[in-house]
Amino acid sequence: MLSSSSFVKKELNFTKMCFLVNCLKRWKSSQQWLIRQNADPYVEKARIYNYRCRSAFKLLEMNDKTNILMPGLTVVDLGASPGSWSQVAVQKTNADGADKSKPKGTVLSIDKLQIFPIPGATIMSNMDFSTIEAHDKVVEALNGKKVDVVLSDMAPSATGVKELDKDRIIGLCYMAIRFAALVTRNDGNLLIKVWDGKEVPILEMDLERFYKSIKILKPQASRSESSEKFLLARGFKGIQRPLANGRWG
Ligand SMILES: C[S@@+](CC[C@H](N)C(=O)[O-])C[C@H]1O[C@@H](n2cnc3c(N)ncnc32)[C@H](O)[C@@H]1O
Repeated sequence: MLSSSSFVKKELNFTKMCFLVNCLKRWKSSQQWLIRQNADPYVEKARIYNYRCRSAFKLLEMNDKTNILMPGLTVVDLGASPGSWSQVAVQKTNADGADKSKPKGTVLSIDKLQIFPIPGATIMSNMDFSTIEAHDKVVEALNGKKVDVVLSDMAPSATGVKELDKDRIIGLCYMAIRFAALVTRNDGNLLIKVWDGKEVPILEMDLERFYKSIKILKPQASRSESSEKFLLARGFKGIQRPLANGRWG
């Protein structure tokens, strides 16, 4: 039988071992991340074009195919930190007024994290968009201005449990849809990120109730090993609201 002191020693050794194994695992995955980053052409391109991250090229590519961002449009970017999609949105909508010959757009960037200032964009940092209160604040800030495009690249921090992570991103998608329904002008568009899974077809069906067409996009800049894809919902049909006479309109 083990004496209590040798039992404690054994326990401590086991805890130390677990700690070391975990450190090793973390070190290995950060090494893999570094190797992948260094070999990624979009990381280098982002540095050259002064984008805050490689995601910029996903939006640029999707916009080249669909032309959803144009000078003069009003765009809300959900899950905007660190800010590369907002940088693209500012350029494409001319929200910084860089091109005097074209109409000036508006970009509103929202994230639960800090977003450092982006010339031409209005920033709402530290805002958890999974709450109705956050939606209310943004609706108030828009002051009746209708939105042409809602972008959502929101993604929860991964827990490592795939099914749970997928459920959480779907939850964020429905929050983006709810918000878009409140603020989008008729015929406006919504672009949202999902992680592929069995809920995506249901999400598509729900989007069809509010939008004329739904398209699935997987830009080349989105890593092939990632289950990430984007749903572009075009042509917002509007929502029925109760009228003063009790009817719906
Ligand atoms: C993939 S990153 C977005 C990258 C960004 N599109 C860009 O190009 O810089 C996902 C972002 O979603 C944000 N996010 C996740 N959950 C959120 C929530 N509940 N409310 C607001 N933002 C959220 C994260 O903080 C993170 O910054």
